[in-house]
Amino acid sequence: MRELYGVIGDPIAHSMSPLMHNDAFKALHYDADYHAFHVTPDNLEAAVKGMKAIGVSGFNVTIPHKTAIIPYLDEIDPLAEAIGAVNTVVRKGTKWIGYNTDGPGFIQSLKEDWKEDVTNEHVLVVGAGGAAKAIYYALAQSGVKQIDICNRTLEKAIALQQANPFHCQSKAITLQDAEECLAQYSLIVQTTSIGMHPNVHLQPISLKHLNVNAYVADIIYNPFETAFLAEAKRLGANIQNGLGMFIYQGAIAFEKWTGQTPDVKRMKQIVMDKLGGK
Ligand code: ATR
Repeated sequence: MRELYGVIGDPIAHSMSPLMHNDAFKALHYDADYHAFHVTPDNLEAAVKGMKAIGVSGFNVTIPHKTAIIPYLDEIDPLAEAIGAVNTVVRKGTKWIGYNTDGPGFIQSLKEDWKEDVTNEHVLVVGAGGAAKAIYYALAQSGVKQIDICNRTLEKAIALQQANPFHCQSKAITLQDAEECLAQYSLIVQTTSIGMHPNVHLQPISLKHLNVNAYVADIIYNPFETAFLAEAKRLGANIQNGLGMFIYQGAIAFEKWTGQTPDVKRMKQIVMDKLGGK
C-alpha cells in the first residue's frame, strides 16, 4: 500500500518539505506521498493520535509544535530529549519515536560545504533560542571541544551552557564581548532570526574583528545571503547559508523513514529553483 508521510505546523502553507520529499520519493521510485498538514496547537494531540490510527509512516514537526509534541510520543531519542525539541517522528511498529535532525542536519551541511572534521574548531554560536540549542548540543555531541555562546539576553546563553549534557568547553558571553573577541573563533554560526526577510539589513553582531580564515554560517536561507554573511564575505571569509541545514535535516529524516539515501544535490536544486535562486 502507498505510504503516507507529512509535516505538521501552524502556519504550514509555505513549507518546502512536501516539494523536497515528494521529489525524493519519485526519484527513488518509492511508493509514498508527503503532505503538509495545518495543525493548530489545540488539535496537536488529536492529530498525533489520528496519524497513528490511520497508519501514517512518519512525519516532520515544525513551529510551534517541536516541544509540545514530546508528551504524545512513545520514545524520544537522547539528542532530541536533551534539546527538548522533536522535528522528525518515525513509526516503529505501534510506537512513535521522536528525533531531532536539525542539529545533525547543520553538521552534515558543514561537513559537505566546508570540512569533514570540525572537532578542533573554536566555535561561536550566535543566539540562544531553539535553533541555537539544537546546533550547540549536536556540535557538542559530535565531539566539538570548544563552543561559546553569545546572546542578547545573557541569562539564556548561560542557561544553555549549564544545561548541556554533552561535554565541551564553553563560555556564555554578551554580544558585545563576542564582537570584541571575535578574532579567536574559527567557526561562527548565526542562529537568530535577525536578517530574515523583510528585515534584511539587520545583523546580530558586527564582524569587524573577524579572522578572515574563519568560516561563517547562517541558518537563514531567505534571503540566500544575509547582511551578516555579506559582511563576512566582504572581509574575505568563506560562508554558507541555511539551505544546506534545511536540506540535510530533511535528508536525515528521509533516511530514518525509508532506510534509503536521497539525492541531496537534487533536493537542494529543487528547493533553490522554488526560491528563485541559482
Ligand atoms: P528559534 O527557535 O528560531 O531559535 P527563539 O527561540 O525565539 O527562536 O530564539 C530567537 C533568538 O534570536 C534568541 O537568541 C534571541 O535573543 P534573546 O534571547 O535575547 O531574545 C535572538 N533575537 C531575536 N531578536 C533579536 C534582536 N533584535 N537582537 C538580538 N537578538 C535577537
